[in-house]
Amino acid sequence: MKILVTGGAGFIASQITDAYIAAGHQVVVVDNLSTGRRENLNPDAVFYEMDIQDPRLIEVFQRHEIEIVNHHAAQMDVRRSVEDPIYDARNNVLGFLNILQACARTGVKRVIFSSSGGAIYGEQDYFPADEGHKTQPCSPYGITKLVGEKYLFFYSQNYGIEHTILRYANVYGPRQNPHGEAGVVAIFCSRLLAGEEPVINGTGEQTRDFVFVGDVVAANLLALGLKGNDTFNIGTARESTINEVYRILNQLIGSNKPEKHGPGKEGEQFRSVIDPTHALKVMGWKPRFSLDTGLRETVDFFRKAKA
Ligand SMILES: NC(=O)c1ccc[n+]([C@@H]2O[C@H](COP(=O)([O-])OP(=O)(O)OC[C@H]3O[C@@H](n4cnc5c(N)ncnc54)[C@H](O)[C@@H]3O)[C@@H](O)[C@H]2O)c1
Repeated sequence: MKILVTGGAGFIASQITDAYIAAGHQVVVVDNLSTGRRENLNPDAVFYEMDIQDPRLIEVFQRHEIEIVNHHAAQMDVRRSVEDPIYDARNNVLGFLNILQACARTGVKRVIFSSSGGAIYGEQDYFPADEGHKTQPCSPYGITKLVGEKYLFFYSQNYGIEHTILRYANVYGPRQNPHGEAGVVAIFCSRLLAGEEPVINGTGEQTRDFVFVGDVVAANLLALGLKGNDTFNIGTARESTINEVYRILNQLIGSNKPEKHGPGKEGEQFRSVIDPTHALKVMGWKPRFSLDTGLRETVDFFRKAKA
């Protein structure tokens, strides 16, 4: 199939691109390299350095006769979205609308959308949250992801474009950017490997559902074979505290650094964990990597990258 992957120079979508190409698909990547990196690009993908808000985006769809869009390009830093919600909305709402308009005008059949199970449920009423949990995002980033889901509904009703919404938990693994504000595993890994003491925001007793990037890639492969519209949580149903992740990494790296805590951050919920049962039932997806195995792979990657 001819697939357009947006954000394909980034952490998650570059690995989806690799898997799609390995499965025999033709992939076109659009990325403005704002956080993505050239070295993540698959050499067999056609690459356009372009913003998803660019009006010329439709020409890429026409030139390559795109059949499926896998949309991962986004401003994905929760704290930045709180500080600059207009920048966040330009990328995540207007950018996505530009893509959907191009889909409608060129006859794209399906869109796979990376939403956020961490951000759109907000402070949860029950644990783990299934897809029916009410959505009450507590950050502009979470709001834009929810808006994206609503637009997909509109485009399926009005233009017959089918969609799969994948609501990820906290994704971690090789290629995650350790220099931003988001991505606690990558930040801890690179700082501990550099002999520094990372700061844990707040008490560190806040919880997250950590899902390994290899499992997220597997969900994106399975999503290619789906029909109709559906929404899936892609998480592990296992809650881990930030302190727990810190301790495992400290041990794997052999760094023995004491826990150093700083102030908590705005716009972030205290507990977050999602239920992936629906993904198992409908597409046979379940997480294969335990937290220990995934963190081990991640540490190996950052060790090699540093060497
Ligand atoms: N990492 C997570 O834990 C997580 C959780 C839930 C959802 N997601 C979603 O998955 C997607 C990928 O996240 P990631 O962690 O790989 O982040 P990332 O920053 O590594 O990837 C995003 C990519 O999109 C590109 N990009 C950003 N804005 C763009 C624009 N306006 N035009 C063109 N390209 C643009 C960046 O250069 C980058 O390559 C995002 O949509 C994010 O919201 C991530």
